[in-house]
Amino acid sequence: MRVRDADVADARGIARVHWDAFTSEHRQMGDAHPCNQRPSPEDEWVRFFESRIPLYQKDGAFLLADEEGSISGYIVASAEERLINGTEGEIKYLGVLEARRRHRFGRQLVADAARRLADLGMRSVHVNVWAPSEATRFYSALGGERGDVFRARCGKSEPLEQVTYWWDDINNVG
Ligand SMILES: CC(C)(COP(=O)(O)OP(=O)(O)OC[C@H]1O[C@@H](n2cnc3c(N)ncnc32)[C@H](O)[C@@H]1OP(=O)(O)O)[C@@H](O)C(=O)NCCC(=O)NCCS
Repeated sequence: MRVRDADVADARGIARVHWDAFTSEHRQMGDAHPCNQRPSPEDEWVRFFESRIPLYQKDGAFLLADEEGSISGYIVASAEERLINGTEGEIKYLGVLEARRRHRFGRQLVADAARRLADLGMRSVHVNVWAPSEATRFYSALGGERGDVFRARCGKSEPLEQVTYWWDDINNVG
């Protein structure tokens, strides 16, 4: 597996990984219909990622786990705070295909994205994650400090518990 930058031509492959990761995350939360919404047509997600790839390449990172041309995972991380002279980065999206988990792809994507954010001037980083999701254990394993639980909605869902993981020093991620 190699980590590489996303290209607009990758948008359909990313949309497939996103849907696989998103539905499995919500299954872990006992939510059969993610965010209480019906699945969006794949083309909507393709358009969503086509528009985000150039944005995050400019003000963050949009990286892929590429296995011989096949996309197994992706991460979107933002350094948009630098536009207001801030130095805190954020992991916006992260997903690895359910069938390709526990091969350290997630860890490598996060570490590479953190390095990219650090190169853009970010000194710390955080991620918001649904509290019942197994990703909490992943972020703990990567050394994230757990913050207070708060409640947020996912689309049209009832309020759900969410929690923030912080790394005060972006060089300590992973
Ligand atoms: C979270 C996610 C990206 C992790 O990807 P991954 O490639 O499987 O993670 P890694 O193999 O790099 O895991 C690194 C370490 O994290 C921990 N970890 C990862 N998944 C875990 C799980 N389900 N339960 C407990 N610990 C876990 C382990 O310590 C693991 O190291 P080990 O395998 O040597 O024990 C993946 O499970 C996923 O896509 N989940 C669904 C989408 C999601 O929840 N995204 C996060 C939204 S913010």
